[in-house]
Amino acid sequence: MTSPIKVDNLTKRFGEIVAVDHVSFKVRKGEIFGFLGPNGAGKTTTIRILTGILKPDEGKAFVAGYNVVEEPVKVKQRIGVVPEVSNAYVDLSAWSNLMLIGELYGVPKKERVERATKFLKEFGLYQARNRLVRGFSKGMKQRLLLCMALMNDPEILFLDEPTSGLDVESARLVREKIQQYNDDGKTIFISTHNMEEANLLCHRIAIINHGQIAAIDTPENLRLQSMELQYVEVLFNKPIKKEELMHHPEIVKVVPAGNKIRIYTANPSAIIEFVVEFAKKCEMRILSLNTMMPSLEDIFIKLVREHRENDFYRTD
Ligand SMILES: Nc1ncnc2c1ncn2[C@@H]1O[C@H](COP(=O)(O)OP(=O)(O)OP(=O)(O)O)[C@@H](O)[C@H]1O
Ligand SMILES: [Mg+2]
Repeated sequence: MTSPIKVDNLTKRFGEIVAVDHVSFKVRKGEIFGFLGPNGAGKTTTIRILTGILKPDEGKAFVAGYNVVEEPVKVKQRIGVVPEVSNAYVDLSAWSNLMLIGELYGVPKKERVERATKFLKEFGLYQARNRLVRGFSKGMKQRLLLCMALMNDPEILFLDEPTSGLDVESARLVREKIQQYNDDGKTIFISTHNMEEANLLCHRIAIINHGQIAAIDTPENLRLQSMELQYVEVLFNKPIKKEELMHHPEIVKVVPAGNKIRIYTANPSAIIEFVVEFAKKCEMRILSLNTMMPSLEDIFIKLVREHRENDFYRTD
């Protein structure tokens, strides 16, 4: 079976900037595929190419089996998009927006009404259906955008940071809905800069930075790859020299951080025991002790560095 999304060597430049830099990946049917990267990584540019808004400078992309440059209409008929910037008309009501987009996609009147009613109820917007979108809160607008994206019953959903700027409750509702539509068999491509969100939702994650994909893997495997970026942060009641702490085979490095000490390790629980013993032996007290997961930034730096080194040594 062909992949719902297939991208080969995709490249997009804006003047000097290479926004998308020879990116290749395949999304499997029924998968929630995350595009995880910081501001300016190239997430939106990739989505705009895949949804037929921008033309790539190099490479090819196929969505639902169609080349996005050669057959953009066929692609658009099969996808739903929640763009980075709202595409709802603020001077129309939620209901009118849904009718309009349904009409644009050629959804028959009866189904338009049925679908709009169903989605507005599911997303908690039915009471507000006749209000102008101008008066909607950010969370309401974002939920409406999801309803709009679903009006043509798409095979594939593209969501560009759909929970960005939402409160915890609204973000959870949006995630639940995404999961539900995935359970119904839809393939989902979601961009985010939120590591936790990617972990929660995605079957696989592509980590993108400076237009390049540094890694594509399951959340579990990505976490394993960055295990040695975890650290135990400890505050003793007396200053110590970092060298005094280095006597453990599972300590990768020790770095002072203000009055605290960061001990990098793939095995935090062993190091916590070691630190407690160390404090006893030196007759010191531990004032605070925390295990910290690597930040997204840390993982990017590691993966991007490895990615570059691999490129450098590649001989094929
Ligand atoms: N229309 C444009 N003209 C010029 N430069 C652009 C344009 N669109 C994007 N860029 C540049 O391309 C790079 C990638 O931008 P893009 O919007 O794809 O990033 P992003 O990962 O979506 O970031 P964010 O998390 O901030 O939304 C950035 O350096 C951006 O400044
Ligand atoms: Mg973006």
